[in-house]
Amino acid sequence: MAIPDVDEQSRCLLDSQAHIWSQIFSFINSMSLKCAIQLEIPDIINRHGAPMLLSELVEALPINKEKSHSLYRLMRILVHSGFFVKQSVSRTGGNDEEEGEGYLLTPASRLLLTDEPLSMRPFVLSMLDPILTDPWQHMSTWFQNDDIHPFQTTYGTKTVFDFASRDPMLNQSLNEAMATDARLVANVILKHCGGVFEGLNSLVDVGGGTGSLAKSIAEAFPNINCICFDLPHVVKGLDGTKNFSYVGGNMFEAIPKTNAVLMKWILHDWNDEECITILKRCKEAIPSKGNGGKLIIIEMVVMNDEAGNKTLETQLRCDMMMMTLGTGKERTEKEWAKLFSDACFSGYKITPLLGFKSLIEVYP
Ligand SMILES: C[S@@+](CC[C@H](N)C(=O)[O-])C[C@H]1O[C@@H](n2cnc3c(N)ncnc32)[C@H](O)[C@@H]1O
Repeated sequence: MAIPDVDEQSRCLLDSQAHIWSQIFSFINSMSLKCAIQLEIPDIINRHGAPMLLSELVEALPINKEKSHSLYRLMRILVHSGFFVKQSVSRTGGNDEEEGEGYLLTPASRLLLTDEPLSMRPFVLSMLDPILTDPWQHMSTWFQNDDIHPFQTTYGTKTVFDFASRDPMLNQSLNEAMATDARLVANVILKHCGGVFEGLNSLVDVGGGTGSLAKSIAEAFPNINCICFDLPHVVKGLDGTKNFSYVGGNMFEAIPKTNAVLMKWILHDWNDEECITILKRCKEAIPSKGNGGKLIIIEMVVMNDEAGNKTLETQLRCDMMMMTLGTGKERTEKEWAKLFSDACFSGYKITPLLGFKSLIEVYP
């Protein structure tokens, strides 16, 4: 198809329109992914064990069989966004043009399988829960009122965690989501960064959720006594092991004494003033300077602005999420350094090992 020549002004107009459309409709990527996960499409293709024809997928799914063309359209956008690939299949009996190609998983959709040990399925479903996405509809209202974040404008509660303490479904979904991320991080950190735990006798994972990360560390290091410390409604009824236990409490008040404090995805939930309070409680919990105490923090370190950089885009999106759901933010190295210094820590070391997140060791 020949593309007719257009003048510079029209080209600019059309490019601008295309840019706006692409931005408006980017939510369709996440919603299509959510639908595929709810229908368990990755699991069904995986169980099939070979490229799966559209007709076979329609047959295997618990859907209205008259919607097969709609399923084709859902799969088409998910192929485009890298969750499935198509491969030629020689099958006899097919008469539809589509019947010659079957769907296969990609590394990204493998991470969405229900039985995959590092599955991110619960994370996707939790992050796209309407309770967490509705506050985006209230952001402009929030900019004009005195509420602390759009989540408060939407539901009237001070923190997502307060909301979760009264809503068992959200509590469970958030805890499962966090546990999936913690399992993935534990996998990488223990493989490549185990040295940070060498020499410790005790470790407290502050805001450790249901304990995935601390439990993995306890298994890998039987000599370290690990505690998962979180709000009472999060750790209620959970049982520990020989060198791993749960403690309920409030990190703004007191943290159990320990050689080292681990905090994954905690400080980004809070503003600088709140972080300084948490960091001071951490400092009180660990041995003083020169006696081996340290904080092990897993967080994003926002990169310098590089147009088109995928990591930066994810970090900026997470920063907006922190602004929408709480008082927190994603921080640059300069902002982290100031925070540690304001909380009277003497130094820090950043290891950018975890994709868009980093490991930050902080010394008293
Ligand atoms: C973003 S989640 C991170 C969970 C876990 N560290 C992870 O990355 O998988 C934040 C955690 O902080 C906990 N939390 C919030 N306020 C807390 C408080 N005042 N004291 C202790 N934990 C708290 C939440 O319950 C939640 O488990």
